[in-house]
Amino acid sequence: MDVSVVVLAAGQGSRMKSSLPKVLHKLAGQPLCAHVVNTARQFSNDINMVVGHGAELVKEHFADQSVKFCTQAEQLGTGHAVAQALPNLSKEGVVLVLYGDVPLTKPDTLQALINQVSDTSMGLLSVLVKDPTGYGRIVRDQHGLISAIVEHKDANPAQLKINEVNSGIIAVPAWALHDWLPLLRTNNAQGEYYLTDLIEMAVAKGVSVKTVHPVHEEETLGVNNRLQLAELERWHQLQIAKSLMEEGVTVLDPNRIDVRGELTIGQDCIIDVNCVFEGKVNLAQNVVVGPNCVIKNTTIGEGTVIEANTMIDDSVIGEGATIGPFARIRPGTELADGTKVGNFVETKKSKIGRGSKVNHLSYIGDTEIGEQSNIGAGTITCNYDGVNKFKTQIGSRAFVGSNSTLIAPVVIEDGAFVGAGSVITKTATANQLTVGRARQVTLSHWQKPTKQTK
Ligand code: UD1
Ligand code: CA
Repeated sequence: MDVSVVVLAAGQGSRMKSSLPKVLHKLAGQPLCAHVVNTARQFSNDINMVVGHGAELVKEHFADQSVKFCTQAEQLGTGHAVAQALPNLSKEGVVLVLYGDVPLTKPDTLQALINQVSDTSMGLLSVLVKDPTGYGRIVRDQHGLISAIVEHKDANPAQLKINEVNSGIIAVPAWALHDWLPLLRTNNAQGEYYLTDLIEMAVAKGVSVKTVHPVHEEETLGVNNRLQLAELERWHQLQIAKSLMEEGVTVLDPNRIDVRGELTIGQDCIIDVNCVFEGKVNLAQNVVVGPNCVIKNTTIGEGTVIEANTMIDDSVIGEGATIGPFARIRPGTELADGTKVGNFVETKKSKIGRGSKVNHLSYIGDTEIGEQSNIGAGTITCNYDGVNKFKTQIGSRAFVGSNSTLIAPVVIEDGAFVGAGSVITKTATANQLTVGRARQVTLSHWQKPTKQTK
């Protein structure tokens, strides 16, 4: 059966105390509702999002994707919200209703829910909780069959004790939604159109309601405030840490890692505490990442060591390299195998060849360095004249003395030696010593100044 998805995302989320619509707050680097849409895409190409508060911003986020939007101008309840999507929904197949602020439902759980749907049955994701306060309670008859969902505010004392609650996520035959939504009424404690009233209608029409439970309660948790957002983030990150460890990665503290994107990682890598991985990061085997590193959209080769407090962005790092501590590897950097980039070194849009070293306090921008060259401490490539950027070319086996200033465009040829403290504005010739600094003089007739008497 074809599946259509309706994502409810019109609520204000006033408890977030934010000018940003709640569903755009981020978990693992992605808006809450983007998690929901990504999961939904695994079942369906027909994704309908009901928007209201902050509708324009939410639409903007999905501008390039095929999400259909329905506007719910006034938030009159979950049933009213789903009804806004009805004109877009086929009368055949299955409709899966998701909440834009419940980001972590597993695809397997939703598939199990969809599997409950037939012409005579629907699926309901329910969960057993310690504290059911605020949730709709699942009311079952003496045979254990579901007869209704009663909202917290409408529940009697006996119903309030029920700890099986409604997650809000349901899968329904499309025809039933078309037939039943127009029949909802607002005769309840909140004066709203409750989507949950569908359950009683289903039972009355002989459509059985089958429940599915999630593996983890967190799969059904919504975000209402920033504390819940943080708690769900930590739970999610812990799941990622656990799966990394299952794949053979040492995570020194599974409570102190953040993956905000797609991290693929080889066996026997070691990740120290407080590292953040953003976008697409790929680590080969035996990579060691020290504490407090931020690595974004980068590929790192086997056996490379990233020392503490290093940032790497949009770069390609070879095998057996050593980077940091305190290095900043900016976009467009390519470090070949066996390179060394040490403390307080910044690189940008530069290629550093096999075995070359930039060990201390340098800026290397718009530069190409060959193999086995050594760039001394404090060397700066002056790539920018205030208007344009220029390239620096350094050959193989070159040696650039400490505190040299290379004013681009400029070439340091293979095997060239540059004396420490040089300002280099012209080609440094291959295998020669080039020195570009004031000569040292000693003035033998110099007299130490004496104090003037007034
Ligand atoms: C709803 C369920 C309750 C369930 C709980 C789980 C109903 C009547 N109640 O209650 O049984 O236990 O979720 O969290 O369905 N929304 C709209 N438009 C509206 C109203 C809501 O888009 O007019 C969206 C909200 O943005 C949110 C979701 O629907 O994403 C749920 O709304 P919320 O007000 O939080 O429902 P609850 O009262 O918590
Ligand atoms: Ca809620």
